[in-house]
Amino acid sequence: MEYEIADPARAGEGRGRTEWAAAEMPVLTAIRRRFARQKPLLNQRVSACLHVTTETANLMLALKEGGAKVALCASNPLSTQDDVAAHLVKHHGISVFATHGASRRRYYEHIHKALAVKPTITMDDGCDLVATLAGMKARHYAQVLAGTEETTTGVIRLRAMEAQSKLPYPMFAVNDAMTKHFFDNRYGTGQSTIDGIVRATNILLAGKTFVVAGYGWCGRGLAMRARGMGAEVVVTEVEPLPALEAKMDGFRVMPMIDAARIGDIFVTLTGCRDVIRAEHFRVMKDGAIVANSGHFDVEIDTGALKKLAKKRRKVRENVEEFVLARGKRIRLLAQGRLVNLAAAEGHPAAVMDMSFANQALTLEYIAKQRHPLETRVHPVPKKIDAEVARLKLSAMGVHLDKLTPAQKAYLGSFESGT
Ligand code: ADE
Repeated sequence: MEYEIADPARAGEGRGRTEWAAAEMPVLTAIRRRFARQKPLLNQRVSACLHVTTETANLMLALKEGGAKVALCASNPLSTQDDVAAHLVKHHGISVFATHGASRRRYYEHIHKALAVKPTITMDDGCDLVATLAGMKARHYAQVLAGTEETTTGVIRLRAMEAQSKLPYPMFAVNDAMTKHFFDNRYGTGQSTIDGIVRATNILLAGKTFVVAGYGWCGRGLAMRARGMGAEVVVTEVEPLPALEAKMDGFRVMPMIDAARIGDIFVTLTGCRDVIRAEHFRVMKDGAIVANSGHFDVEIDTGALKKLAKKRRKVRENVEEFVLARGKRIRLLAQGRLVNLAAAEGHPAAVMDMSFANQALTLEYIAKQRHPLETRVHPVPKKIDAEVARLKLSAMGVHLDKLTPAQKAYLGSFESGT
């Protein structure tokens, strides 16, 4: 079995933390038990490019118990938890190609190594694996039945590939399942971004002006949590609808150039590039903290920050201080990479439970298909979404009302009005 990890000796640590996460993942655990009995993934080979975390480890174990041969590589060089990689390799014989802090070259080497299993199904978080395969000759992916994509940015890239007729095989937008983005993007990113900022800086959020760039599901979650910590939250947007929603949710909404003058902490979650750039750094206050929680490290123009800086130094783990003209200091967290995964542990297990339940059930759905799927971006089947919601509610001990026959009839009728 091939693998490339940082330190096999950390497997014990990885086991303890993975089991800790499993206790918060009842839906995935139930699926894993069923998979162990029914083996729905027998004969499937899965190449997965995901954040190598305790939650992902539990997903990999579910797939393996379902009968799949799995190879895992990282979807971000800074999110890899080396103890988890060691645990999967040493205790479960799963091929992992991931080391924390890998260079860009090694990151792509790892993707190529994970592809060496000749996958029948691929899993992506950010679309780097699919984009790599799409750049190769068709014989390298002819055997792939379909793939899944975990995140908003990845789905945007897939749709761009689809629009240019460059999608290599059918893909499922797991991100777009309700039981994924309503919860993972909102509560997961919201909490873990605060967690990353606080772990990196140990600052008090109460009384600070906290600027959230982008009011998608992740931005909504972060704005809500920052407000809960006592910060005054400012939202920046380019789209009228989310901007209006932010305003009516009670946040101040303004262009970044205005927010830049008053903010203490800035977080980008837009999926776009250059959201914070030279003109913004120039007007920021001394001591401003800048972080990104969007998928790629392009949202903050770190190149511009480096150019503006007279000096730079590491002041704490995951905090780099840039000294600009007149001694003004700007603090960049986690090199502008995903702060929630680089400086903390990503989304908590209880929310990844639903995201990864969607992933596991979608893989089962792909494996079950008798006929080839159409090469396009597919939604996760509604039945899967509903099943994940049902299982999660049941695990949380939440019971619902049932419609009476009269209520059912009423909802199916149009006759009764004013
Ligand atoms: N994406 C965000 N948080 C994550 C986590 N904890 N594990 C895997 N992928 C993630």
